[in-house]
Amino acid sequence: METVVSGIRPTGNLHLGNYFGAVRNFLKMQENYNCYFFIADYHSLTTHPNPKDLHGNVKQVLAEYLAAGLDPEKSTIYIQSDVPAVAELTLLLNMNAYLGELERTTSFKDKARQQPENVNAGLLTYPVLMAADIIIHQAHKVPVGKDQEQNLEMTRKFASRFNRIYKQDYFNIPRPFNFGDELIKIPGLDGSGKMGKSENNGIFLAEDPKSIRKKVMRAVTDSGPTEPNSPLSEPIANLFTIMEVVSKEETIEFFKEEYSKCSIRYGDLKKQLAKDIIEFTTPIREKIEAIASDEQYLSKVAKMGREKAMESAEKTVREVREIIGFRPF
Ligand code: TRP
Repeated sequence: METVVSGIRPTGNLHLGNYFGAVRNFLKMQENYNCYFFIADYHSLTTHPNPKDLHGNVKQVLAEYLAAGLDPEKSTIYIQSDVPAVAELTLLLNMNAYLGELERTTSFKDKARQQPENVNAGLLTYPVLMAADIIIHQAHKVPVGKDQEQNLEMTRKFASRFNRIYKQDYFNIPRPFNFGDELIKIPGLDGSGKMGKSENNGIFLAEDPKSIRKKVMRAVTDSGPTEPNSPLSEPIANLFTIMEVVSKEETIEFFKEEYSKCSIRYGDLKKQLAKDIIEFTTPIREKIEAIASDEQYLSKVAKMGREKAMESAEKTVREVREIIGFRPF
């Protein structure tokens, strides 16, 4: 069975866009691949979180992914910093990662611009740590969005370079996971573009109903159709796209009909949409809350993941040390 590795940044909560995008894919992969999903808390140190936030964020993200369906019996779900072998492999890979290529990485340049007061070496070597995450389990595939393509390219480069330097076909060269067109893109509530973390246009799985209602009621619309059967403007099409995933067929039909007849009332559409979103997210939110407050369960999940991930990671590091030439006396 092929191996898939994916890291999850412990920042931000899952929104509907993530749920129908990345999370869906994780759930499909977990049925057909040997999956390693981990929370990338080493990576998050590049932005210097305080200790309390760091732990709280890791816990919340773990609870959210578990509530959304990641299954610790099917996949290896772990916390990156629970597996220090990753740090050792990073150190070893750093010896063959060059300053020039690291400095040219788009994500490094972006971050350096965003936090000019904290351009640390961790930011520079972020792609090396990511490569270690991936090749430490000999991954075949990595699900990556557009923003991570270059990082995966770097992983491929570091893995092949290692093989070349040591004249061995040791590391698998991982490929991007291709989902084709199956991905549902959930738009935001601000009229254009997709739902995102930073855009502040999202609805979160853990969000309370009152806040969801408020956001939906404030969603961008237009001034309404003036002629029968006119095409939907982008903001209205977006509201319908969200309806497609949370509402009943009849509901969608009803409002489409109202739109074609120019008798639609956006206030009613939004009220219905808010109600359907809340109905959809409520069981998930309750599950998130239950899991997040069950320290015993979380600790069991983390321990299971750590043990499985350590086994695979330590095997690789042992072999890499051997290949490099470290020998015991
Ligand atoms: N860099 C990824 C992101 O920002 C997170 C990540 C870290 C990752 N290590 C990884 C993703 C390994 C895939 C594989 O989203």
